[in-house]
This record gives sequence, structure tokens and C-alpha cells, in this order.
Amino acid sequence: DRRIKIAPSILSADFANFGAECQAIEAQGCDWVHVDVMDGHFVPNLTFGPATCAAIRPHIKGVMDVHLMISPVDAYIDAFAAAGADVITAHVEAGPHVHRTLQAIRGAGKKAGLALNPGTGLDTVEYLLDMVDLVCVMTVNPGFGGQKFIESQIDKVRRLRAMIGDRPVHIEIDGGVTPITAPLVAAAGADVLVAGSAVFKGGSVTNPGPYGENIRAI
Ligand code: DX5
Ligand code: ZN
Repeated sequence: DRRIKIAPSILSADFANFGAECQAIEAQGCDWVHVDVMDGHFVPNLTFGPATCAAIRPHIKGVMDVHLMISPVDAYIDAFAAAGADVITAHVEAGPHVHRTLQAIRGAGKKAGLALNPGTGLDTVEYLLDMVDLVCVMTVNPGFGGQKFIESQIDKVRRLRAMIGDRPVHIEIDGGVTPITAPLVAAAGADVLVAGSAVFKGGSVTNPGPYGENIRAI
């Protein structure tokens, strides 16, 4: 399914109202819900872990897309699988045994994603493409919402789409997605667009209309 899917990142939601925020963005027409897990080690910020993911899960009807910005990662995969993630994405930079990590995610019965930081080349995914359901091209350095889109990654997306060929692999974009940058990455071959600040700006759980306007604008 190569239709463009919008995946709001709840990193930009009200952390005291995750359940209601997830319901609001789905009601406003999003496709997936993107959940950013940060450990204060792989990235210089902290969010939450599997217990919070499990608490959020009943409030999401569709795909729960869990982005693990943690290292090490393998010891936590079963916990995020049990928390109800549909897609579990680990970073290629998170450790030396990413092949084993992907085996573990698929072994847990989940869709496997692989994320690349902006400075990481496509050679790192070449021998993994048959083991993944999604490759996430980071278009900011991970850790924070609201950063500026890194233009050089558009060429990476184009080359990645060619490498993937006819495999059923999604290309997800994460960071700085706006109504301006979204068409550029979609034209280059991306089909899942994560957006945090650009979806949640101007709205709230009591005034969710702007979420829908923002999703449609992207
Ligand atoms: C960054 C996260 C992103 C982030 C995107 O480390 O992985 O999902 O929330 O936020 P925006 O869309 O504001 O760049
Ligand atoms: Zn993310």
C-alpha cells in the first residue's frame, strides 16, 4: 500500500493526555500513530517506555508505530511487542548487531523498521532489506521535535526507493515534515510521513479541528 500515510508523533502531544490525544488525531484523519521512545543515552532526551506504550494502546484503533531511540535495544523488544506495538523501529546506529535486532522484532510477530540518522549512509541497509518492513529516513537529528528539515536526505530517499525495488518496504520520513517538505519526500518515494509539531500546532484535545486541518495540509 503506497498511498501516503500521515503518522503524527505524540512527542508534540500533551503528555498528560495521551489517550485523548491519540483518539483526537485518529478522529481527525491520521493514518498511523508514531510513538517516540528516547533513553537519554542514544539521544539527548528522555520520554517514556513500554508501560506508557501499553497504556496508550487501547486508545489507538490503527497502527501503533513505535520508534525506539534507545541503545541497547534487544533487551526491550519483547516488552514493546507485549505493549501492543504494530511496527517496532530500531536504529542502525544503536549497536553492532542490527541483523539480530531485526530477527528479534520479526520473531516477536511485529513489523520490523530500521531507522537511519542523517549522517548514516545507505550501505548500512543494503544487506538488511529482505528483513525489514520499513526504513525510516531521519530528516533531523533525533531527540527533539520542531527541528529544521535536512534537505540532503531527499536524495537519500530517492536512492533508497531504487535500492528497495519491488520489495514491500515502506519508506518513512521523520523530522521537519511540513506542507512544504512533504511533497518533496513523497515525490522522492516516501510513503509514511511522521509529523509532530506540524500536526499538533494550534490544536488541543478540546479543540482538535486544527489537527485535521494540519493533517490535510500535509
Ligand atoms: C525526533 C522524533 C520525531 C519528532 C518529529 O527525534 O523521532 O518523531 O517528534 O517532530 P517534528 O515533526 O516536529 O520534526
Ligand atoms: Zn520518531
